[in-house]
Amino acid sequence: MKVILGIGGGIAAYKAAELARALVEREMTVQVVMTRAAREFVRPLTFAALTGRKVITGMFDPDGAIEHIRLAQESDVLVVAPATANLLAKFAHGLADDFLSTLYLAFTGPVALAPAMNSNMWLHPATQANLETLRARGHHILDPEDGPLACGMTGPGRLADPLRIATFIQALAERRRDMEGETVLVTAGPTQEPLDPVRFISNRSSGKMGYALAEAAAARGARVILISGPVRLAAPPGVTLVRVRTASQMRAAVMEHFEQAGIIVKAAAVADYHLASVPAMKIKKTAARISLELDPTPDILAEVGRKKGSRLLIGFAAETENLVQEARRKLESKNCDMVVANLVGQEGTGFESDRNEVVLVLKTGEMVPLPAASKREIAGRIFDHALRLRLALAQ
Ligand SMILES: Cc1cc2nc3c(=O)[nH]c(=O)nc-3n(C[C@H](O)[C@H](O)[C@H](O)COP(=O)(O)O)c2cc1C
Repeated sequence: MKVILGIGGGIAAYKAAELARALVEREMTVQVVMTRAAREFVRPLTFAALTGRKVITGMFDPDGAIEHIRLAQESDVLVVAPATANLLAKFAHGLADDFLSTLYLAFTGPVALAPAMNSNMWLHPATQANLETLRARGHHILDPEDGPLACGMTGPGRLADPLRIATFIQALAERRRDMEGETVLVTAGPTQEPLDPVRFISNRSSGKMGYALAEAAAARGARVILISGPVRLAAPPGVTLVRVRTASQMRAAVMEHFEQAGIIVKAAAVADYHLASVPAMKIKKTAARISLELDPTPDILAEVGRKKGSRLLIGFAAETENLVQEARRKLESKNCDMVVANLVGQEGTGFESDRNEVVLVLKTGEMVPLPAASKREIAGRIFDHALRLRLALAQ
C-alpha cells in the first residue's frame, strides 16, 4: 500500500510527523512531499527518518525524471495534512506551480485533505467555496476540530487527530469501501433534560460507541449523519454532525433525517424522563424537601421502528441484568433488526470506556457475542453483521 503524504506550510506541519509514523506503523509505504512553506516549519530530515524515504521538495529533478507523473501512477492514496488554505485554493482551481499541486492534478486515486488553519481563514467564504468544489469532486475532507489554536483564537481550525487520519487513510488505501453509496444515520451520546435554567438530568454515556460507529461507516465509504447529544468528542472525519441537547431535539433531528438513511443505528442514551414544564427561574435552595414530577420522553426507537419500512434499524440495550432477554424484548417491541446488548456497570467496558463487550441479537434469531475489544473494532464488527443481516433479510 503506497500513500503520498503531502504537507503544507502551516503550524500543524509538526503533527504530520505523528501521521507519517502512524501510517508506517500500519505497514504503508509513505512518500512525503513537502511544500516550500512546509519546510519553514519542519525539516524534511524528520520525515525521511520516519519513513525511510527521501522527501520530495522540488519540482525540477536534475536528472529530468518526470517524478510527479510516476509517483501519481504508482500510489494508492493522496493525503494532504495539513492542507493549508492556499493548497485548498490551488487544488480547487487547478493551479500547478509546485510539486504537490502538480502531483495533485496527475493523481487519479482517492484524495483525502485534512485542513488546518486559523478559524477566520477556515470560515472565509473563499475557503468554504473551495471546500465545496473539492467535496463535489469526491475528495474526502477530514474537517478540522474545534479548540484552542496556535494563533491564540479558539474555534474550528485544528488539524484532525493524526491517528484518526491514519485509520481513515488505511481504510481508503485498502479500498475497503463496502459501504460506498450507503447513507447511515447514527445517534450518540446522552441527552440533557433541563430542570431549570441552570440544572439538568443526564446520564453517563460518553458518546464514544456512537462516534466509533460513525467513524467506521465513514471510513468504509458511507455518507454518515451523526446526531449527537452533548459530548466532549470531535466529529469523526467526513461525517455530518447534528448537535442536539434534549430528547425532544434528538427526536426532531432523527425524524428530519432518518428517511435519507438505509441503516439507522440508535446508539444514543436518550433520557427516559424529563420535566415537562421547565421553570423559567432557577429553583431556589431552601431547607424543604422538593419533588419533581417527571414525564416519559418520546420513544424515538419505537417511532422509527413503526416508520422504518425496509431500512435496517439497529438499537442498543444498555442493561445491568438479564441482558439478552431484555435485548430480545426490545428487538420485538421496537421492530429492530438488530439489538446491540451492552452490559453496563462493569469495570473496563460500557459507558465512558474505550472498550466494550457486547452481544448482537439479530432478527434472524442469531445471537453473536463479540468479545471485549476497542469500540472502533466493535463498531466495525457491528457493520459487518449489519450488511450480512440485510442480505439475509432480503432473501
Ligand atoms: C507562523 C505561520 C503559521 C501559519 N499557519 C498556517 C496554517 O495553519 N494554515 C494555513 O493555511 N496557512 C498558514 N500560514 C500561511 C501559509 O504558510 C501560507 O499561506 C503559505 O503560502 C502556504 O504555502 P503552501 O500552501 O504551499 O504550503 C502560516 C504562516 C505563518 C508565517
